[in-house]
Amino acid sequence: MTERYFVSTPIYYVNGSPHIGHAYTSIAADILARFKRLDGFDVFFLTGTDEHGQKVAAAAAVAGVAPQDFADAVAADFRSMADAMAISYDDFVRTTEPRHLEACAAFWRRLEQAGQIYEGAYEGWYALRDESFYGEDELTLGPDGTRTAPSGAIVEWVREPSYFFRLSAFQERLLALYEADPDFIGPPSRRNEIVNFVRAGLKDLSISRTSFSWGVPVPGNPAHVMYVWCDALVNYITALGYPDTASAQWAFWPADLHLVGKEIARFHAVFWPAFLMAAGLELPRRVFSHGWWTIDGEKMSKSVGNVVDPRALAAEFGVDAVRFFLMREVSFGGDGDFSRKALIGRLNVELANDLGNLAQRTLSLIARNCAGALPETGAANEADSAMREQAASLPALLRAQLDRQAPHESLESIWRVVRAANVYVDRQAPWALRKTDPVRMAVVLRVLADVLRDVATVLQPFMPASMTAMLDQLGVPADARSFAALAVPLAAGTVLPPPQGIFPRHVEPPT
Ligand code: MSP
Repeated sequence: MTERYFVSTPIYYVNGSPHIGHAYTSIAADILARFKRLDGFDVFFLTGTDEHGQKVAAAAAVAGVAPQDFADAVAADFRSMADAMAISYDDFVRTTEPRHLEACAAFWRRLEQAGQIYEGAYEGWYALRDESFYGEDELTLGPDGTRTAPSGAIVEWVREPSYFFRLSAFQERLLALYEADPDFIGPPSRRNEIVNFVRAGLKDLSISRTSFSWGVPVPGNPAHVMYVWCDALVNYITALGYPDTASAQWAFWPADLHLVGKEIARFHAVFWPAFLMAAGLELPRRVFSHGWWTIDGEKMSKSVGNVVDPRALAAEFGVDAVRFFLMREVSFGGDGDFSRKALIGRLNVELANDLGNLAQRTLSLIARNCAGALPETGAANEADSAMREQAASLPALLRAQLDRQAPHESLESIWRVVRAANVYVDRQAPWALRKTDPVRMAVVLRVLADVLRDVATVLQPFMPASMTAMLDQLGVPADARSFAALAVPLAAGTVLPPPQGIFPRHVEPPT
């Protein structure tokens, strides 16, 4: 039976336009989804938009638009961003869809029937920006009397009737989960943070609000709407058809991976598993959180005016260059800084020079000296075999790295091969062999074509369009581009299309 793989992005708040931070999570999840598909898995890749809550209602009010109309417009914008960034999602869930309202109501009832919900009144600190409650001990008091959460968001005191979820009852079970499955939360630094948070003690969680109405009504008491996080987390099972757990789609539960930004690890690694335990459902296998991007050293914000639209970058540099840069520049899990200069540097050196030139050199030598047809494999010497082996080891290497969500390591491994291939081509100098030893020249060019095939095959998840073009130029049939297909050598004599540059150098216009 085909193995299944379910990976999700967070669902994005529709309070503003998508920026590069949102694109980052989606690109990383897309790479994992594409990799698993090429590796023979049956993949379900979910993304979407988080449309309820006070924050979205406030943004709609500022725009002077009804919340649903506002959400419709921004959700469409997020979908267009996903499409522009080549995000191969299988489903795009919106929390205002009827299927989601049904799933939320069913989930709530289930928790209620299990005795996990009670009515009371909430009094405490709330950060609108984070849509999150905070304890007094987590806050910093400013000179002007305002209190801020560790995220920097300002909190306000709220007091209102509320339903509560018995989160406190799950402290020990959560700790036991983290202990029994050290891979449940990644990276390890985040795991420690979560463990400490839970160890410090969990209070019951307020899960409904009465002071505004833009949310999912609480079943049986429409004066309350569900707390937006309670509604949002359910999206992961909405998309699988919950409450219909007999559906074919439900077979994707539990999720293999919830990919999230570090600021929302707590919701996914504490609240969500507690809700699921309370509902008697299986838990996701892993929650991995990545770091945050700053722009030229500064936090991205509308007021600073440095918000980067990934679509504008893709239009200027090509979507694949942007995807490559974001995955290459920082260790996934850590924070990173974005700058045009760094992007252009990587594009020119690693894409145009290292990989682009290697392909261009190899393919034009084949075009000129082998009548444009793929040479025979021929007899390999030691250098040839070493080169081949290094490239052939990539799928297994990447499999292990990507299961640990380390795409930056994968790109480093691939570039090690690319750099080795550049050394190989310089040493073997096939252009000089043309006259002295044409048989040897053909062997060398075939090694290079095969190495490029390996490299382009494993790079498909990262740069889908460019690698499709490269595999086309290498004469790899469209149905022979999976990892399994690498076991079958390309047919010698295959006529290759005329070579064309794939990664043009970027030259900044003078300012
Ligand atoms: N709606 C919630 C998530 C609910 S999931 C059930 C939310 N939405 S959000 O619109 O604020 O998007 C958050 C996600 O965007 C983060 O988890 C992170 O993945 C990404 N990022 C937003 N800004 C970012 C950066 N500056 N850098 C990197 N990623 C960031 O939270």
